Amino acid sequence: MPGHTPKKTLIVYMSIHHGNTEKIAKRMAKVLGADLKKPYEVNSDDLDKYDLIGFGSGTYFRKPHIAIIDFLDKLPDARGKKAFAFMTCGVFVFSGLGALKKAIKAKGFGLAGEYCCRGFDTWGPLKFIGGIAKGRPNERDLEKAEQFALGLKRLN
Ligand SMILES: Cc1cc2nc3c(=O)[nH]c(=O)nc-3n(C[C@H](O)[C@H](O)[C@H](O)COP(=O)(O)O)c2cc1C
Repeated sequence: MPGHTPKKTLIVYMSIHHGNTEKIAKRMAKVLGADLKKPYEVNSDDLDKYDLIGFGSGTYFRKPHIAIIDFLDKLPDARGKKAFAFMTCGVFVFSGLGALKKAIKAKGFGLAGEYCCRGFDTWGPLKFIGGIAKGRPNERDLEKAEQFALGLKRLN
């Protein structure tokens, strides 16, 4: 279509413990052809290039990383844009996904989907037992992340 510039997908993520969330982010980015950035690498002037933004984080004290929440808080109104949320966590019940979705919706984004899986966790006393969720995300988690991303691509 003349004059029509197809927009792109951006994935903004934080992954500070074992790179668990980064593995998921990379698999999704491959499927979506997305740009992959940390919040501090995003130039707010560039955001207009994107019509779908993924927000990803590990869970830290039952919450997404503060840098992701701060980034969302500081964004301009995002009505008309779509977003998706993904997280990794040691234990599902404490995933922090609810808090991430709330911050996304508060900005006006339409929530296009959410993905969560377990991630290797050696925080605090867990290191004495060799950690929990060993080997996660595993190939099955990554495959599910890929399927999730393919679903988003069809939506877009
Ligand atoms: C400081 C810290 C706090 C954590 N708190 C939680 C928590 O409250 N609930 C949970 O399920 N996992 C918790 N975890 C485990 C991480 O969410 C999990 O290992 C995640 O996959 C880490 O992702 P990352 O490697 O991308 O940073 C915590 C890990 C760390 C290092």
